Amino acid sequence: MLPALLGGSFGILLYAVSANALANGVGRLPALGYNTWNAFGCNVTEDLVLEAAQLMVSLGLQDVGYEYVNVDDCYAEPTRNASGFLVANSVRFASGLKNLTDQIHALGFKAGIYSDSGWETCGGFPGSFQNEARDAATFQEWGFEYLKFDNCNIPFDDIIRQGMLGKYTRMADALIDLANSTGQPPFLFSLCQWGWEQVWLWGSTLGQSWRIQGDIETNWASLASIINFNSFITQATDFFGHNDMDMVRARNGGFTFDESKTHFTAWALMKSPILIGTNLSAITPDILGILKNTEILAINQDPVVGQSVSPFRWGLNPDFTSNSSFPAQFYSGPTQNGTVFMLINTLDQPEDMFFNLTESPWIRAGRQYSVRDLWTHTDNGTAVRNFTAAAVPSHGVVALLLQDAGDEPAGIFPPCAVWDNCAFENGTAAN
Ligand SMILES: *[C@@H]1O[C@H](CO)[C@@H](O)[C@H](O)[C@H]1NC(C)=O
Ligand SMILES: *[C@@H]1O[C@H](CO)[C@@H](O)[C@H](O)[C@H]1NC(C)=O
Ligand SMILES: *[C@@H]1O[C@H](CO)[C@@H](O)[C@H](O)[C@H]1NC(C)=O
Ligand SMILES: *[C@@H]1O[C@H](CO)[C@@H](O)[C@H](O)[C@H]1NC(C)=O
Ligand SMILES: *[C@@H]1O[C@H](CO)[C@@H](O)[C@H](O)[C@H]1NC(C)=O
Ligand SMILES: *[C@@H]1O[C@H](CO)[C@@H](O)[C@H](O)[C@H]1NC(C)=O
Ligand SMILES: *[C@@H]1O[C@H](CO)[C@@H](O)[C@H](O)[C@H]1NC(C)=O
Ligand SMILES: *[C@@H]1O[C@H](CO)[C@@H](O)[C@H](O)[C@H]1NC(C)=O
Ligand SMILES: *[C@@H]1O[C@H](CO)[C@@H](O)[C@H](O)[C@H]1NC(C)=O
Ligand SMILES: *[C@@H]1O[C@H](CO)[C@@H](O)[C@H](O)[C@H]1NC(C)=O
Ligand SMILES: *[C@@H]1O[C@H](CO)[C@@H](O)[C@H](O)[C@H]1NC(C)=O
Repeated sequence: MLPALLGGSFGILLYAVSANALANGVGRLPALGYNTWNAFGCNVTEDLVLEAAQLMVSLGLQDVGYEYVNVDDCYAEPTRNASGFLVANSVRFASGLKNLTDQIHALGFKAGIYSDSGWETCGGFPGSFQNEARDAATFQEWGFEYLKFDNCNIPFDDIIRQGMLGKYTRMADALIDLANSTGQPPFLFSLCQWGWEQVWLWGSTLGQSWRIQGDIETNWASLASIINFNSFITQATDFFGHNDMDMVRARNGGFTFDESKTHFTAWALMKSPILIGTNLSAITPDILGILKNTEILAINQDPVVGQSVSPFRWGLNPDFTSNSSFPAQFYSGPTQNGTVFMLINTLDQPEDMFFNLTESPWIRAGRQYSVRDLWTHTDNGTAVRNFTAAAVPSHGVVALLLQDAGDEPAGIFPPCAVWDNCAFENGTAAN
């Protein structure tokens, strides 16, 4: 786990990292789409991929901005062909992957594929180590424009003489060379380095997103752990580079409805890619409604502000406590249209959640703010000085957009929102 001081002391360093983000024209905003792994694993077939793509359209997910349909592991034959090329699995992808991407593109999506930085993928299929340029070219010939790159079966040091950064640089360079030599847009490069939790320090120099932890599971403990971890490294995310919190599993049964809302809200407002990892044939209207919350998606896809929300108060635990079961509860961040607040009730019972507006650095003292509830889609009046979300359900979330609504009314006591160093116009201390 991260030392408690990390989020505070390393802030400036992290801004420097995000400023290096690979602004090569792709992946400015977090990717929105679908990934086959969680629903189908190694049973994935071309028919299942196409069915998912069709459901992304018919369920209205494409209309609200989901853009990619990504094939995860297990699409290949277990061995390369005699000339060393990857071959589509002859049973499960009998029509070939070019055929598949043609149909994905015909539905209006971009297409994503998967490989591995080692000898073999996590599912035991050929990895791209020492075949980076060849595989990048194959993926482009097959019609893909997004590559998720995993971390299994990594070569021994005496073979590679590189650390993680060097290992991932091999494919990053291959993708740049490919774009340079073909004149096609670069692949969106999605690093899936889950073994070493420092990837956020260098991920943005190679690709547009980087996994920050291991695989998400469909339980609250997993969600809480990912949110806790990411809450310390939010400044690594900005345009062209995103902390990838893993798929949005959005599954009935594993999460409560409130947990599913928290899952989606945290991923969206922390500017993670949102790749739906669930069986869309079985999705229920309530979960679908979560994935189609356009007010929340708009913030994930904010064209003007790329920053993530960050905690301004941990709440239950002292500030900067890293606790994978009880992450920070109070977050805010700037957006195109005002300051967004995210409140997470990490307790096992409902909780009233109070904050002073000026606890957020994005709020101006002495002003009042209109409050928009991004889940009830209602205007909730004007907040002066503070706001209380009453009875937030256990593991539930509140997402609010606050917009400046002018000077606060006169005569409020105390005269300053931030009381400690406040002085009257004549210079006399007010407290
Ligand atoms: C794949 O199919 C096998 C055999 O039907 C099944 O046991 C397994 O759970 C399936 N995996 C997934 C991820 O659906
Ligand atoms: C291997 O696949 C590549 C790419 O599809 C093809 O050009 C080559 O002819 C294949 N080699 C063999 C021996 O089948
Ligand atoms: C894809 O494969 C299917 C089945 O083999 C075939 O019917 C279809 O014409 C192919 N589509 C394209 C675009 O090649
Ligand atoms: C790719 O092309 C760009 C622009 O021409 C150039 O700056 C860059 O060095 C090239 N990169 C590689 C890896 O060849
Ligand atoms: C997906 O959901 C459909 C509809 O409930 C079901 O028939 C199918 O078996 C599910 N697929 C998997 C892999 O769970
Ligand atoms: C800002 O508001 C405009 C107008 O309602 C909306 O179209 C846009 O999506 C909003 N942007 C964000 C980042 O929420
Ligand atoms: C996490 O926080 C909870 C609530 O404050 C506390 O009870 C628990 O002991 C903490 N766990 C660890 C490992 O510090
Ligand atoms: C909120 O502001 C009030 C008045 O300035 C102050 O007494 C209180 O401690 C603040 N609470 C928090 C959580 O900052
Ligand atoms: C919240 O702000 C109002 C002014 O709008 C003030 O009267 C009230 O005391 C504040 N509540 C707390 C708990 O600070
Ligand atoms: C905003 O108002 C709606 C409608 O009255 C209400 O259901 C919701 O709980 C309010 N949100 C908050 C955070 O208080
Ligand atoms: C300064 O202004 C405050 C508020 O108007 C007033 O209460 C106080 O008496 C003044 N102090 C002096 C020294 O004039």
